[in-house]
Amino acid sequence: MSLIDNYGRPLTHLRISITSLCNYNCFYCHLEGIEKVNDLLTPNEIGIIAYAASALGIRKFKLTGGEPLLRPDIVDVVKEIASIKPLDLGMTTNGYYLDNLANKLAEAGLMRVNISLPSLNPNKFRVVTGINGLSRVLKGIKAAINAGLNPIKINYVVLKGINDDEFWNMIEYARSIGAILQVIELEPIGISRDVFMKYYISISVFEKMIKEKAVKKIIRYSLHARPVYTLDNGAVVEFVRWFCNPKFCMHCTRLRLTPDGKLKTCIINGDEVDLKYALRPIPKLNLIKKLIIKANYLRKPYNKLSI
Ligand code: 5AD
Repeated sequence: MSLIDNYGRPLTHLRISITSLCNYNCFYCHLEGIEKVNDLLTPNEIGIIAYAASALGIRKFKLTGGEPLLRPDIVDVVKEIASIKPLDLGMTTNGYYLDNLANKLAEAGLMRVNISLPSLNPNKFRVVTGINGLSRVLKGIKAAINAGLNPIKINYVVLKGINDDEFWNMIEYARSIGAILQVIELEPIGISRDVFMKYYISISVFEKMIKEKAVKKIIRYSLHARPVYTLDNGAVVEFVRWFCNPKFCMHCTRLRLTPDGKLKTCIINGDEVDLKYALRPIPKLNLIKKLIIKANYLRKPYNKLSI
């Protein structure tokens, strides 16, 4: 049984940010809605929170950052969460360090991975990320596949005038490696209005093109009601549209944990519940559970029109 919030939305997912550091410098990054922090939770503390969450019906976990693979103890973090036998344990990464780590992560219990890939063109990749890293990331993606992580999702945030011409190439690349392409609409979070106005392009046009060709469509009601299309050549394309999409908030099922131990109820304007004092000096499991329940009741849809 899951907890339900005041708007009837079940709480099934915990998104765990384990560092605010990143080796990239993407100009469009929403920073997961968190500020830079230093006092990080330990793998053990993260495991205790995941255990408490799991006891309350939260059985799906996603590790994120910053860049989660920058944590030297990332394999321990994965082991801690895997030990509670979650239904799902995934990670969102930029893929830069994946080549070396994919096997170790899979052995530790990571099930699947989402890898950000802003472009298949090395120069554009560098312009977006500030890093000359495309070939390294492509190697990392291969390593993830070979390690048996499944599904592999490629995160493609569409940026007007930069990579919006790569839509079909991206689909073909993802198909060729057996990955799912996530076409993500730029969100106006953590970036200036100017940057947003300059690079925002609606992904509706892309969705329309795919809809016409698709042999199958499903809606992932469990996650923001995202539509997923399959083409006749086997390509799978998922569309991720932000909170101006009326269904986005209505189908939100998550809480977010910050690297320093605060539960956030929304990426945009959420209330926060600090778990730190329930963890230190010694963890108090019952108190952690109470605070998770409290955070659940503080969840509210940013886009209220959607409820
Ligand atoms: N809008 C949409 N997606 C973004 N991401 C980062 N910033 C933004 C934004 N402003 C994506 C990254 C990564 C995922 C965690 O979020 O590309 O794949």
